[in-house]
Amino acid sequence: MRYKEYIQNLPAYKPAKLIAGPSADVVKLSSNENPLGPAPKALAAIMDAAAGVHRYPDSGATALRQVLAERAGLGLGNVTCSNGSDELILLICVGLIREGDETVLADGTFISYLMRTLELGGCPVRVPLRTYAHDLSAMAAAITERTRVVFVCNPNNPTGTSNSAAEVRTFIASVPEDVLIVMDEAYVEFVERDDYPDLLAELRAGRPNLLLLRTFAKIYGLAGLRLGYAYGPEELIGYLEKVRPTFNVNLLAQVAGIAALDDDDHLQRSRAHTAASRTFYMAELRALGLEPIPSETNFVAVPVGDDAVVGAGLRDRGFTVTTLAGWGLPGLIRISFGTDVQNRGLIAALKDVLS
Ligand SMILES: Cc1ncc(COP(=O)(O)O)c(C=O)c1O
Repeated sequence: MRYKEYIQNLPAYKPAKLIAGPSADVVKLSSNENPLGPAPKALAAIMDAAAGVHRYPDSGATALRQVLAERAGLGLGNVTCSNGSDELILLICVGLIREGDETVLADGTFISYLMRTLELGGCPVRVPLRTYAHDLSAMAAAITERTRVVFVCNPNNPTGTSNSAAEVRTFIASVPEDVLIVMDEAYVEFVERDDYPDLLAELRAGRPNLLLLRTFAKIYGLAGLRLGYAYGPEELIGYLEKVRPTFNVNLLAQVAGIAALDDDDHLQRSRAHTAASRTFYMAELRALGLEPIPSETNFVAVPVGDDAVVGAGLRDRGFTVTTLAGWGLPGLIRISFGTDVQNRGLIAALKDVLS
């Protein structure tokens, strides 16, 4: 077979460790999922629609896009839906990256930006984080004639840090209009800071080179269903729509998405639980003599010495977390918030490991 060299040279695909439901003896605090479960209204909608899965879904996900567009004060043509927001990262790269083209991304951010760039034969330019957050002025300075896309994860997975409205505004203004700015806002619903950027307003104002990625996998608790979406200018969304597989969003995901958006009770409970978990972890990790990174998300990253040793120790005690050496952050682990019981258990296990 005449394989592509740059794909063959990639490390073999390692599927994430699958851990079953509540009866499993390992608590999974490694994928930033919602420990309260899926939005109940979404579950009910899935049950209602399940008998209809012998039919293909609406290939345009029109009803869901309509709701998303209305919520954002944008038009139907400003929204596209996908099989998880991860698929959108692929579609962006398929659509814009030719061999040798550059993408700019942080060193210490969501791994898909790097992998998808490499798979398309592109050259990722990785810019170090500054105090664990995106260094937006350094990223702007890294843009060259060959840059096609800049990926910014705000808030950032895996550090939980975020960039302010003022920083982002200056950054956006300094990026040439033929370079796409991808703002991945997978954790936007958890953000508490007042000066977080309102980029929907930028889109409403006509910004031509900005794409906002969102997901139903985090606060809405639908990770297993695979549903993401993007807001962007009509021309760009139309372009991405040409690249996507026809039925990329399944029938159950479409109805569940609409119902989840209508489940305010679940959203508020999830937000409140996340805020309480954040306060708990900051206090407890500090009490262990650690320096957790202040987070705007449903997880916290913390330097622990040897992340592999601590990760293995926690695994032995029944908890999986994410070790971050492979993300360019050696010595750190990322803990996704669980239920209150799981959070207390994790802290007790960590105390044991560290002693
Ligand atoms: C920053 C970020 N973007 C995108 C994704 C992918 O989300 P989805 O499950 O919708 O593909 C994740 C998932 O962890 C993420 O952390």
